[in-house]
Amino acid sequence: MLWDAVAACLPFQTLCPWAVKALQCSTTSCRRLVGIVICTSFQRHQENVNLTLAANFGYLLRNFMEQLGMSTTEFQLSREPSSFAWERTIVVIESAGQQGTGTFIRVHNKRFILTCAHVVGQNIETVNCRAADREFQSEVIWCNPDSDKPFDLALLTAPQDVPERCCVRLARSPATLGQMVYNAGFPYYVNFSFRHDFNPSIFQGRIIKCDTGAIMSDGSVQAGQSGGPMFDQNGCILGVCVSNIKLDDVVYPNINTAIPICDIRNTLQQFARTNDLNVLSNLVASPDVHRVWSLEMPPIRSKL
Ligand SMILES: *[C@@H]1O[C@H](CO)[C@@H](O)[C@H](O)[C@H]1NC(C)=O
Ligand SMILES: *[C@@H]1O[C@H](CO)[C@@H](O)[C@H](O)[C@H]1NC(C)=O
Repeated sequence: MLWDAVAACLPFQTLCPWAVKALQCSTTSCRRLVGIVICTSFQRHQENVNLTLAANFGYLLRNFMEQLGMSTTEFQLSREPSSFAWERTIVVIESAGQQGTGTFIRVHNKRFILTCAHVVGQNIETVNCRAADREFQSEVIWCNPDSDKPFDLALLTAPQDVPERCCVRLARSPATLGQMVYNAGFPYYVNFSFRHDFNPSIFQGRIIKCDTGAIMSDGSVQAGQSGGPMFDQNGCILGVCVSNIKLDDVVYPNINTAIPICDIRNTLQQFARTNDLNVLSNLVASPDVHRVWSLEMPPIRSKL
């Protein structure tokens, strides 16, 4: 186990021959110790975060070896580049000291960033963004002016040279009960002063409820994932994650609500075609949808 862990951090040539032999396990049976679990929930900014946190074993080992006076110059602690395309489609957004997530979307060949209004905040013109390969400022095209009314959405400009493969397509069909989904974002603090801090997470779940103007899933969503994408199995954006459930200060990250893309698709397409900002006022939802998001009971239409 220890040697597997060492191998995870050191280039092979720095190990002695017998160690290299011991490490030649088949890729399917080889398990490497990458972290040691510290806790499964913690607090940040007075909010509970329900997330398994582990200490990076590579850093622990380097520290240990330094204390033994061993050379650690060959340690490779950088994160392995991910082959998952989804990482390149999301951005961390910093606005007025808050952080959230956004998604590069492509609508009629135009590129935008879709996020939540509460991530951007009111009366904000530009926000700071960090994507997998760049940092940039993005302008707020539209942000729901009434933070109490759904949809909790904001549309931002995206750099026009963002490659097509980094832009997500809008899902064509509505979510269905039991459908597998993937909620992505930055559930933990991203340090904007540290250029290399780009560590998004993704959680698998299922659609557990489809309502008018709202879909719920059981794939974990934490505070920094606000505005993040809910992907379907084809990698299209099916929803924009808005909130989880919080009762008496206890957060339930596995019950969460998202804005269905199908309900805003037409408006986004119309805006991309016309560039008419007035079109975006259609992103403020109907009173029926208000009721769903404020968790009010629907009016009783007939009593038996
Ligand atoms: C989330 O974390 C808090 C502590 O930070 C804990 O009290 C609570 O039980 C956890 N909730 C769930 C659903 O695990
Ligand atoms: C953020 O990164 C900067 C630059 O690496 C570092 O000096 C600072 O201590 C970091 N802040 C936190 C809270 O980790």
